[in-house]
Amino acid sequence: MSCLARNSQSAPAPEAQAASGGRLVTVFSAEDIAGRVRGMAAEIDACYGDEPLVAVCVLKGACIFFSDLVRALRNSKLELEFIRIASYGMGTASSGQVVFSKDVENDIRGKHVLLVEDIVDSGRSMRFVLDTFAARGPRSLRVAALVNKTGRREKEVSVDFIGFSLDSGFLVGYGLDYAERYRALPGIYELEPAKG
Ligand code: IMP
Ligand code: MG
Repeated sequence: MSCLARNSQSAPAPEAQAASGGRLVTVFSAEDIAGRVRGMAAEIDACYGDEPLVAVCVLKGACIFFSDLVRALRNSKLELEFIRIASYGMGTASSGQVVFSKDVENDIRGKHVLLVEDIVDSGRSMRFVLDTFAARGPRSLRVAALVNKTGRREKEVSVDFIGFSLDSGFLVGYGLDYAERYRALPGIYELEPAKG
């Protein structure tokens, strides 16, 4: 519907936004996610207490998860940073190349650092970030991932705070994209390819 239309209604249902012929099947509802994000925030608060903490959002996929997670934390000395890496092209399989295209803006040396990622899949992206950050001398370095996908792991990555664990499946919504689409959907969906 056009923004010029009067009395415009709410956005189309997720199922109606699927690529032509494809289907979006709900895997985690917005309520499932909200409950798990609160749980993760409690785990993170229990780990760090009120120690100064730098939470690092891995753009773009973690942007919505990160926004909800940091607002659920009680830490009064929280700093937010953003990095951008590119490991996936426009498809559903990793290209194998990891590029650091945006870095943190403040020194992380001597600080507790929590990397906040949408999905750890092969582990290549997170391994690259962990190795790069570890070399900068943080006081501690941990990972929070909304989804830990274990079926295609190639690089060892210890995920300290896990939202959901899955073996496989290509997910979209709540920040996760397929060719830049679906990020703004409220839940997490499996994208089923069109049949035939
Ligand atoms: P890895 O390097 O193979 O661990 O890939 C991690 C990155 O690939 C994640 O940060 C996501 O951006 C992307 N990715 C992996 N699986 C999915 C998925 O199911 N949906 C959307 N993006 C994914
Ligand atoms: Mg990502």
